[in-house]
Parts: sequence; C-alpha cells; structure tokens
Amino acid sequence: MPLVSTKEMFKRAYAEGYAIGAFNVNNMEIIQGITEAAKEEKSPLILQVSSGARKYASHTYLMKLVEAAIIETNLPICLHLDHGDSFELCKSCIDGGFTSVMIDGSHLSFQDNIELARKVVEYAHPRNVTVEAELGRLAGVEDEIKVSEDKAFYTDPAEAEEFVAKTKVDSLAIAIGTSHGAYKFKTEPKLRFDILEEVGRRLPNFPIVLHGASSVLPEYVEIINKFGGKMPGAKGVPEDMLRKAASMAVCKINIDSDLRLAMTAMIRKSLAEDPANFDPRKYLTLARDAIKQVVRHKLINVLGCGGKA
Ligand code: G3H
Ligand code: 13P
Ligand code: ZN
Repeated sequence: MPLVSTKEMFKRAYAEGYAIGAFNVNNMEIIQGITEAAKEEKSPLILQVSSGARKYASHTYLMKLVEAAIIETNLPICLHLDHGDSFELCKSCIDGGFTSVMIDGSHLSFQDNIELARKVVEYAHPRNVTVEAELGRLAGVEDEIKVSEDKAFYTDPAEAEEFVAKTKVDSLAIAIGTSHGAYKFKTEPKLRFDILEEVGRRLPNFPIVLHGASSVLPEYVEIINKFGGKMPGAKGVPEDMLRKAASMAVCKINIDSDLRLAMTAMIRKSLAEDPANFDPRKYLTLARDAIKQVVRHKLINVLGCGGKA
C-alpha cells in the first residue's frame, strides 16, 4: 500500500463522526510505537513531521522509516508536514514524497495567509498532495516559539468560510481554546464549541483540524516527577472534549506532547530503577511500549477510528 493523502480518510471520518489521529514522529521508536498500535487497532493514521523533527532526523531517514512502517503494517498512512512555515519547506516535502502538508500562516495578516496558502495549494494539488492551513492562533509552545495566552485568538467563522473559498485548502486548523505543549492550562479549559459548530454550519462536509490536543496524561507526569523530573502540574484537553469534537466537524486531532511524556517517563523510570544499565535498547523498549499503549488508548477510546483502516 503506498502512502495516502488525507482526502479519503477525511471523507469517511466526517461522514462517520470520528477523527484520525495525527501523531508527531521524530525517530524509529516513536514511529514503531504508533504504527504497531494502529496495526493492532486497524486504524488509518497520519504521521506528522515538524520542521524541527525534519532537522533532527533528516528527511530521508523519516521517509524510509515510514516506508518501513507501511511494509510492516499495510495500513493507509499519510505522511504530513506539521506547521510548515514557508512555501519552500512545503515544496521540499512534496517533492520528497510527503502526501500532505500544513502551511501555517496563522501569524500573518488574513490576506497574506490566503496568498501563501493558495500558492501551496497550486503546487500541491496537481501532485495529489492535500493541504492544511490555520486560521486563528493557539497559545503554547510550538517549534520553540512561545505564544502567550494574550497573543492567542479564536478563529472567526466568517473568515474561515472566506479563507476556504479563496484558497481551496483541503482542511483547516482552527483555534477554539486548545493549546500546544505540556503546560497548557491551570484549570479545566473551556473550549469554544460554539465556534466549531458555526464553522461546521458555514463549511458543510469540510474537515476541521484540532491542534494542541494532548491531555497531559497525569499518570506519566507523575512518573516523571517521581524519578527526578520537575514538571508543574498542568491540565490538558479533557478526552471527553476530544470525543465531542471528533463527533462534530473535526477530522484530524494532533497529539505530540502525550507521547513525549510517555516516552520520557519510561526512560526516567527505567534508568532510575536500573542505574547500572547502559543498553539503550532496554529503556527504549519500555518507551516504545508506552507510546504504543497511549496511541491504542487514543485510537479506540478517544478518536473512534479503531477498525476504520
Ligand atoms: O506543534 C508542534 C509539535 O508539537 C511539534 O513540536 O516543533 O518541537 O517538533 P516540535
Ligand atoms: P500537543 O502539544 O497538545 O500534543 O499538540 C501537538 C500539535 O498540535 C502538533 O501540531
Ligand atoms: Zn500544532
């Protein structure tokens, strides 16, 4: 099975009221943990690569690791650029075999965001690559840039309608109160489902994307802190809210921080409990298993995409 774009995945997810998990990947163990979970749950999958991940692991390594995952799983997998910040980066990923790209012009003016997204769509569509854009701005940390809460703003549904009509993007990330990273909220967040509903009304059958959707799984924060870490207790996005979003127009839910927490927790625990060990395979096996467990949980209990491959 070759890599697929998001087109068919989103069509079915929208019609059946579930979401596809989009998980960030940086290395072999993360890719293996995610794809082994999806294989067991027979789930379609989006593996996404940030520009930081691409710098860290290199395009070729990530490409080949994902190709290996397809051979091992025979699943419909989409390889997606996360938070692409320029036409050139999107083009490079498209030319290099990615099947979907995000052009994130959310920091630009509305007009400039439209121009940039349109240019990427014009390059991507003839090559059967789908394009995600973003409107509104999430709080939190992404690609080492911190957006404070007062600089974040919600998506305007009327602008979303105009943006999609003018750019012909295939999906749109909107800001309804989620936030990037593991230090999201001091108290339970209030997501603006009214905005999501209005966007859904204005853009029928159009897939919406939710970034910053990790729940900051407390069991892993606890392990990290028990074994020498210092993470302040923070709330994430409650999984009930993600279930609700998936039943609405949201077809793609982005999760990175929860996997990082699971991985870091198990490495800390393993090294603390077996201080004489210097074989990375021992702690990376535990890390990979924890990622697999988290992804299985998200696929079946939160996103509802188990059995949809
Ligand atoms: O939203 C950003 C993702 O969590 C990727 O993070 O840029 O540190 O790889 P990164
Ligand atoms: P989290 O930091 O909540 O996992 O969000 C990840 C994300 O949105 C990647 O684009
Ligand atoms: Zn994001």
